[in-house]
Amino acid sequence: MRSRIFVMLALVVSMLALSACGGGGGTIKIAILAPLSGDVATFGQSTRDGVLLAIEEWNAKGGIDGKKIEYVVEDSQCNAEAAVSAANKVIDQDGVKFIIGEVCSSASIPVSEIATAKQVFQISPTSTNPAVTVGESGTKPTIFRACFIDPFQGKVGAKFALEKLGAKTAAVFLDQGNDYVRGLAEVFISEFEAGGGKVVVKETYTGDDSDFSAILTKVKDANPDVLYLPDYYSTVNLIAAQAKEKGITAVMLGGDGWDSADLDRTAVDGGYFTNHFSDQDTRPIVQDFVKKYSAKYGAAPDALAALAYDAANILFQGIDKAGKADPVAVAKTLETGTFEVVSGNVSYDANHNPVKAAVVLQVKGGAVNYIDTVAP
Ligand code: PHE
Repeated sequence: MRSRIFVMLALVVSMLALSACGGGGGTIKIAILAPLSGDVATFGQSTRDGVLLAIEEWNAKGGIDGKKIEYVVEDSQCNAEAAVSAANKVIDQDGVKFIIGEVCSSASIPVSEIATAKQVFQISPTSTNPAVTVGESGTKPTIFRACFIDPFQGKVGAKFALEKLGAKTAAVFLDQGNDYVRGLAEVFISEFEAGGGKVVVKETYTGDDSDFSAILTKVKDANPDVLYLPDYYSTVNLIAAQAKEKGITAVMLGGDGWDSADLDRTAVDGGYFTNHFSDQDTRPIVQDFVKKYSAKYGAAPDALAALAYDAANILFQGIDKAGKADPVAVAKTLETGTFEVVSGNVSYDANHNPVKAAVVLQVKGGAVNYIDTVAP
């Protein structure tokens, strides 16, 4: 009898020892959903690279509570259909409970519906449309983001145009079918007009358009102070080049969608855009990240890489604090915690949005320069 108790005790002790040092093993599997091909491929590549750097660092430290982080990457193409099938695949086939992604709001919104229904945790690094985290029945319990939202970004853009550029008139182009573009354009228009400006041209196009000469003629005739182009870099490149060809001199202005190594810096020369991050920020946490990222990938990180790195670190710290890889428990730790990450100090409001500053950058002479930081 005594020896049986002894054996059982020894077993319990060794099990405790194993779990304490994490030798219990096991892994935590996450999925990265990002557009790795197509029109905005640089968005997906930066996002993947930012997350992979964070995973590498956590695994080098032994993982999360002794559990190594495993990952799957899916090319969700910045579009609703591809993102939905990627989300279903990683959840149903790979058994993933934690998703980092998507990049584009139009893809993140439908993924958030699936993740909510299946009680999977999702953090979008960069989707700025409010509807990612909030639906008809309020805040989605397990959905978060690492970035600010467009009602803030659009206001920063409008105020910059009015106050810093002294603009009185604006032209605004928008793609009705893109949640991000439409949302950001609407906020810009209402804030610009609320601040005393006048929107003299408002024109829509579709994602398939490549010839913008008809709507650019209206801009040429109206001769506004600024031309607001809140789309992704691939479309902005087309519009901006055609605008220059037409001799339009309005200062071009945009949002975070401009942030790409493939932005046509000649076509948008002199223009400004709002963003989440500048690699010229001198805070030590930023410069440390810029150094590590550049060493690994041979290029400076853009905002997508920084926010992806942040989203991964917020998630991993959240799992660590929760003490278990359970989406609902992890969501609770995000709701109550503060996370010091590259793009600022993150704590979540009731809508699961971080309250954070934006930066304004200028494209000039082939370079992208830091101009201003605007707090909420
Ligand atoms: N904010 C964009 C969206 O919601 C995505 C994006 C973020 C693009 C940052 C570039 C840089 O769709």
